[in-house]
Amino acid sequence: MSAYHTPVMVDEVVSALRVKASGKYIDCTTGEGGHSLAILEAAKPPPSILCLDVDAEALQTARRRLEAYGDNATLRRANYREVAAVARENGFAGADGLLLDVGLSSLQLDKGERGFSFRHDAPLDMRFDVSQAVAASEIVNGYEEGALADVIYRYGEERRSRHIARAIVRSRPVRTTTELAEIVSRSVGRRRGRIHPATRTFQAIRIAVNDEFDNIHRGLAGAIETLGAEGRLAVITYHSLEDRIVKSALRLQAAECICPPSAPECVCEHEPTVRLVNRRVIKPSAGEIRANARSRSARLRVAERINQKQTNYPYPLP
Ligand SMILES: C[S@@+](CC[C@H](N)C(=O)[O-])C[C@H]1O[C@@H](n2cnc3c(N)ncnc32)[C@H](O)[C@@H]1O
Repeated sequence: MSAYHTPVMVDEVVSALRVKASGKYIDCTTGEGGHSLAILEAAKPPPSILCLDVDAEALQTARRRLEAYGDNATLRRANYREVAAVARENGFAGADGLLLDVGLSSLQLDKGERGFSFRHDAPLDMRFDVSQAVAASEIVNGYEEGALADVIYRYGEERRSRHIARAIVRSRPVRTTTELAEIVSRSVGRRRGRIHPATRTFQAIRIAVNDEFDNIHRGLAGAIETLGAEGRLAVITYHSLEDRIVKSALRLQAAECICPPSAPECVCEHEPTVRLVNRRVIKPSAGEIRANARSRSARLRVAERINQKQTNYPYPLP
C-alpha cells in the first residue's frame, strides 16, 4: 500500500480536465498531492498548478512530492471557498481547469490524534484546519440538545438523532472519540450490516465542525467564476448529501431558465455559465474499487465554462 493517500479516479480526472501543455490548473483540495502530481505529469511541458488545502500538514507532504516541478507548482494554505480571490492573487484567474476532491484524506482519517475516527482513542477534534477555533468538542459539549440533534439528522441522515443527542447531553462532558462512539452505540443499539453505529454521527459532527456544505456551495461558485472560456471543473464527492449539492448547483448553473415551475412564463433571463459534460455521474471502475476500497463511494461530476458572465446564481441554493 502507498504511504500516501491514494487519489481517486485519477485517469478520469486528468481526462475530464483535458490537461494540456502549459495550461493553468487549480487543485482546490491538494491533500498529499496525488491528483496534483498526476496533472503535472499529464502534459509536456508541464502545466502550472495552484495547490490549495487548509491542512498545513498535508501541504507539507505535497510540497515535498511536487518539489521536482519547481515554479510550476504553487502551494497555498487556503480554504477553497476563497478560491476566486486566491486565484486572482496568484495569477490563476481564467484557469483551464479546477479540481475539488472534497472531504477528508486517508492521512487525516488514519492519524488517530486528529480525532476523525472512532477506531482510535483521541480527543474530539475533527478540524481540517487545526488553527480554526471550533473543534468537535465544542459542538458535542456545547450545543443545546435540539441543535445537536439537528446536526446529527441533517448531516448524518441519522433517524435516531434526537435519542443520540439526548444521550450525549446526559453524558457530558464527553472527552474522547471512544467515549462518543460508546454513547452513540448504546443509544442506537446494534445495527445489522457492516457500518458501525457511530458512523453517521461522526460524519455529521465532522461536516458541522468544518462547515463543509457551505464551503462546497461557495467553492463551486468561486470555481466557476475562476474558469476561463471552455475551462473544466471536476468535482469528486463521497456521499449522497455532498453529491446532491454538487448536482443541483451545476444543474442550476447550466439551466436556461431558473423560474419556479409554477411561473406561467420565463422572466428570469438566466444565462447558463456552464454545460454539464457528463449527464450521468462517473463512478470508479470495479478494478479501482478492488484496489482501493475507500474509492467505492466516490462520484465525479464535470462541467465546462461556456461564457464569461458573472456567476450570480441565487445563494443559498433553493
Ligand atoms: C479527499 S482529500 C484530497 C486528496 C488529494 N486529492 C490527494 O490526491 O491526495 C480532501 C482534502 O481537502 C482538504 N479540504 C477539506 N475542506 C477544505 C476546504 N474548505 N478548503 C481547502 N481544503 C479543504 C482536506 O484537508 C483534505 O486534505
